[in-house]
Amino acid sequence: MTAMRNRVRLGVNIDHVATIRNARGGTHPRPLRAAHMAANAGADGLTIHLREDRRHISDEDVRQMVQDVKLPINLEMAATSEMLNIALRHKPHAACIVPERRQEVTTEGGLDVAGNQDYLKAYVAALQEAGIRVSLFIDPDPEQLEAAHAVNAPVVELHCGQYCEAALALTDTGLGGPLVEFELTRLKNAAALCNALDLECHAGHGLTFDTVSDVAAIPNIAELNIGHFLIGEAIFIGFEAAIHKMRTLIDKATQS
Ligand code: PXP
Repeated sequence: MTAMRNRVRLGVNIDHVATIRNARGGTHPRPLRAAHMAANAGADGLTIHLREDRRHISDEDVRQMVQDVKLPINLEMAATSEMLNIALRHKPHAACIVPERRQEVTTEGGLDVAGNQDYLKAYVAALQEAGIRVSLFIDPDPEQLEAAHAVNAPVVELHCGQYCEAALALTDTGLGGPLVEFELTRLKNAAALCNALDLECHAGHGLTFDTVSDVAAIPNIAELNIGHFLIGEAIFIGFEAAIHKMRTLIDKATQS
């Protein structure tokens, strides 16, 4: 008999509601309203990224989310002392440490944990002591996973952007099938190594209706964090419908 797999949690990233709001400098659309809608639509958690340049989520958004939203809040942040102070002040349920470069359009790659072990070990400890669950956003690379384990992070989030990009290129051009298989295998191997290292395994970045099923089907993945596609799809089918459809695809992929 095969063991039933736990339901894979869906964390909805609402940064880009704030991107649209900030385009006009006003208050509409409110990220807090989107947060409540996501909760009603079946999200298991909310993810917000307080970037150093505050290009979308603001400090006030963080305060409101932690105070008013019932769902667990996952605060994505760079490993700076400014962000540590903010996290310790608001005490979100979780913090996901991401690399950040000011000029990048989005988080382009995983965190270099292996190259910054001493710094990150102390950083992870400071968050954990405040009761904040820490995850490290890393590429599906065994060296980075071993390092995440070494700095006592309980959770990693695997960057699945390269897999998603390859899958999109295959759909658009018909080219790159072996690359898609290669990237998916990297994610599968990384998830298996998480299991061996007793690291909780999450994944995110670039997921769409077309790519979510193969990633959700990987055993050991406990949570997926998805944002940009859901906010974009909300224009066409509505935010709640987009979340429902993503949820259905995840459930189908994990039950088969
Ligand atoms: N997980 C992490 C750590 C991220 O940095 C992001 C992007 O902010 C996401 C998930 C969501 O990625 P996307 O918006 O492409 O779905």
